[in-house]
Amino acid sequence: MRLGYLWAALLFAPLLHAGDKVSAQQFVDLQQGDSVHPGFRRAHAKGICVQGEFRNNGALAQYSSAQIFATSVTPFVGRFSLAGNNPTAPDLKAPVRSLALSFATSASEQWRIAMNTPPVMAVSNPQDFYQQLVAIKSGPKAIQTFFAEHPESADFLAWKDSYQPSGSFAAETYHSINAFYLVDDNEQRQPVRWHMQPTVSVTDDGLSGPNALHQELKARLAKQPVVFDWLFTLASAQDDERNPAIQWPAERPRINAGKIVITQWQAQQDGACHSINFDPLVLPSGISPTVDAILRARSAAYAESYRRRAVEQLRGQAKELSND
Ligand code: HEM
Repeated sequence: MRLGYLWAALLFAPLLHAGDKVSAQQFVDLQQGDSVHPGFRRAHAKGICVQGEFRNNGALAQYSSAQIFATSVTPFVGRFSLAGNNPTAPDLKAPVRSLALSFATSASEQWRIAMNTPPVMAVSNPQDFYQQLVAIKSGPKAIQTFFAEHPESADFLAWKDSYQPSGSFAAETYHSINAFYLVDDNEQRQPVRWHMQPTVSVTDDGLSGPNALHQELKARLAKQPVVFDWLFTLASAQDDERNPAIQWPAERPRINAGKIVITQWQAQQDGACHSINFDPLVLPSGISPTVDAILRARSAAYAESYRRRAVEQLRGQAKELSND
């Protein structure tokens, strides 16, 4: 390729058209934006490491052969975070709060999951998600036009209108959004989504400061564990498990699999979560991915973000930042 054409290709790379494939590099370039924070995740940059255990009640053993649903207790390393590329952004301004967990399910397997507060995405495929991020960067008018052109965003917008941020990471509900299969000993597959439901309710009255949620979590964990119920929703034959934008009807059966109990925290740069890539396709036997294209796009983008921050870390470019 002649140099002139190469420059043109690079220059116009972000101007994708509907249906164009998006690479992991294009996603991460867009998400990190113009001000790179070396050593940090390119999305969900601000966060805090946590540790704890899953206390299984055995209810899912008939649906999945995964070891985690046969063992009584499985430890995990996790991370609460806020959407966005800025590791010092004010906690209470973030539109989305998140929880990621990595379970050491056996000596040879792990299960990594990353969840957000909305129950669905606004769009159904990676190309449209890329265009949504472009619209968000362009401003309120562009995002309004984007939603008007994407009627599949209705369920997401309904959630957004009704969502009331709480005063604690411990009081949010975190959703898998994408669906997965529980696979039993006979290779029977049951499509599911899951969410982690809080066991406390906390208002944001009196919270202030850029690190309000981080401080609240540290103070809370000094007194008691943070506990969630892990609830699985079973899809029926009418639900399309490949489409993360559509909410399944409320009457679908739900199974409570047990309790997620968080007991400790660590600053993210020194903590055990720092070097974990919470790739949603790291799955144990007994859980398998649906063909939802967003899952593949996530896996590739997380790897690219991880590669960039790991290189910066190795080169000593990572900054030390505190969210105390
Ligand atoms: C195509 C869609 C998506 C793309 C391109 C994308 C991209 C990314 C990237 C680049 C990271 C940083 C990864 C790292 O450096 O470790 C990230 C983190 C994260 N994403 Fe996504 N994401 C997508 C969809 C989603 C969805 C649907 C969810 C929720 C179900 C989600 C939840 C998270 C969470 C919780 C983190 C932080 C994980 C951690 O604490 O390390 N993302 N995302």
